[in-house]
Amino acid sequence: METQALLPSEYTQAESADLDARIAVRKRQLGERLCILGHHYQRDEVIKFADFTGDSLKLSQLAAGQSDAEFIVFCGVHFMAESADIVSSDQQKVILPNLHAGCAMAEMADVEDVSAALEEICALTSETVIPISYVNSTADIKAVTARGGGACCTSSNVRNVFEWALAPTDKGGAGAGKIFCTPDQHLARNTALAMGYPPEACCVYDPHLPCGGLTPQDIENATFILWKGHCYVHQLFRAEHVAAVREAHPGIRVIVHPECPREVVDLADAAGSTAQIITEIDAAAPGTKWAVGTESNLVNRLAKRHSDKFICVLNQATAACTQMCRIDRPHLLWALDGIANRQIVNQIKVPQETADDARVALQRMIDIKPVTQVTTNQ
Ligand code: 13P
Ligand code: SF4
Repeated sequence: METQALLPSEYTQAESADLDARIAVRKRQLGERLCILGHHYQRDEVIKFADFTGDSLKLSQLAAGQSDAEFIVFCGVHFMAESADIVSSDQQKVILPNLHAGCAMAEMADVEDVSAALEEICALTSETVIPISYVNSTADIKAVTARGGGACCTSSNVRNVFEWALAPTDKGGAGAGKIFCTPDQHLARNTALAMGYPPEACCVYDPHLPCGGLTPQDIENATFILWKGHCYVHQLFRAEHVAAVREAHPGIRVIVHPECPREVVDLADAAGSTAQIITEIDAAAPGTKWAVGTESNLVNRLAKRHSDKFICVLNQATAACTQMCRIDRPHLLWALDGIANRQIVNQIKVPQETADDARVALQRMIDIKPVTQVTTNQ
């Protein structure tokens, strides 16, 4: 696997204004041959160069639709660039400006461990077990998911994907008696409970313990078997932050990403994907107050865009995704210079066999429609 090169000083020592100007020149030169995609968590200095911005679902759809662009530069994290490579055409090249921009949650699930877990679980029940992998997962895991008859999901369509998995096959579903959810336990649990399942319908598979630390009875009792993974950014938000922000700002509405732990989602007014959070706050009345439990770059940008509303990060501090932050102006310019000089750097290329299987799981995700509104607690 390619490793991230150290950037020459012409990038690392350059002034911000110089970097801005050089990126703008490269964008103009490359024209329609280039498409820059930016996830909502990117820094302002990078997102301003994106041709399209979005949540992970929208960015996958955009990557699948960018047939004119020869180069897709993905300002996001590794799994997003892999997904873009899988759904784009063979002629297109997907570039991740910094190979160190991986998703810490995706790295909590190793493909061999996930395959072994799926086999173990299937051996312990007579019911059909369908794997559903959050799009924040490696291409290898997406491929295993497809081979097991499952699909990927994002936080925008996870509920509809679970409903598809549980629907009988003669009604177009996957006929699951149980769903094996990787890698984020919180997204899966929050969704199962929002669908009306009791907490006992979920059990947690710990890959560090024999048989996940579960008994055959635990598996028999569960409808949702959750991989023990989490996002360290969303795990920063705790129940006491909800209480503190409500006390400091009476009347404030608390809205959180479903990667937050259950007790935080329970105390919030609503939960939603980055796209759902943006839609909710964009539509809110002037003068309203919002505490948002998700990555700070997005929340701070929302606050700047809506100066007529009070908007803060739920913990009233920062909650940065260090991995997303690794895409910065020097790396973006370096990647664009590589394209212009015909010395492509950091191309993300998923091996064909893996890509062919993973595409099935991703296509199911793209075909299952998203929910546009947040899930409210009232
Ligand atoms: P979205 O699907 O809401 O864009 O979230 C992606 C992500 O990585 C959240 O941490
Ligand atoms: Fe991964 Fe968490 Fe960063 Fe999202 S915020 S990309 S889940 S580490």
